[in-house]
Amino acid sequence: MKVAILISSRGSNMQALVNATQKEGFPAEVVTVLSNNPEAAGLQFAKDKGIETKVINHRDFDEREDFDDAITEYLTDKKVDLICLAGFMRLLSAKFVNRWRDRILNIHPSLLPAFKGLHVHERAIESGARFTGCTVHYVRPEMDDGPIIVQAAVPILQDDTPDDLAARILVQEHKIYPLALKLIAEKRVKVHGSVCKISEPDEDGTSITNPQTR
Ligand code: GAR
Repeated sequence: MKVAILISSRGSNMQALVNATQKEGFPAEVVTVLSNNPEAAGLQFAKDKGIETKVINHRDFDEREDFDDAITEYLTDKKVDLICLAGFMRLLSAKFVNRWRDRILNIHPSLLPAFKGLHVHERAIESGARFTGCTVHYVRPEMDDGPIIVQAAVPILQDDTPDDLAARILVQEHKIYPLALKLIAEKRVKVHGSVCKISEPDEDGTSITNPQTR
């Protein structure tokens, strides 16, 4: 499975995905790391790992759809099977999302559907919730929406600052994104409407559906 990772800045989730996929036997390969921001720090990491990088700067386009079309053209040329958004901070048009339906993943630092959007950690702390976390999900045209593949819960501690909480959640993000990618590359994730069902491999390595893993 050929994977493209889209980033906008630091790219620590991209790094976790690249490190996982470069381990022997991982069923997916990162073929390109693309950024809308030429200054994205993560681009150098990808280059150092021998991965092709590409900048498509949104500022070079007047219309959002033209920017999205340029991304589609590049990813199609690279024969990409799956797109992983990893801190990609541009909203993608419905046309783009529908073109890649069930072939785009996103990671978001909350337990969706709670706390969509920005300033997630501040809002989680202010809500008084005892737990938050992170979510890997298929992308739909609405922001931070789509069938959930994997989540990790993280407790909110009494004295947490937003930065404390973000740091503890990020540790979990780096675990669940490679896990979600592995499940998809093993063809164990099926989308049923708004819900993903995960099957477990049986002893032959083929997949059986375990209703309790949903
Ligand atoms: C991550 O925490 C990711 O969950 C979040 O941006 C950060 C990017 O960090 N994404 C969103 O908020 C998307 N709605 P990274 O560049 O180090 O991976």
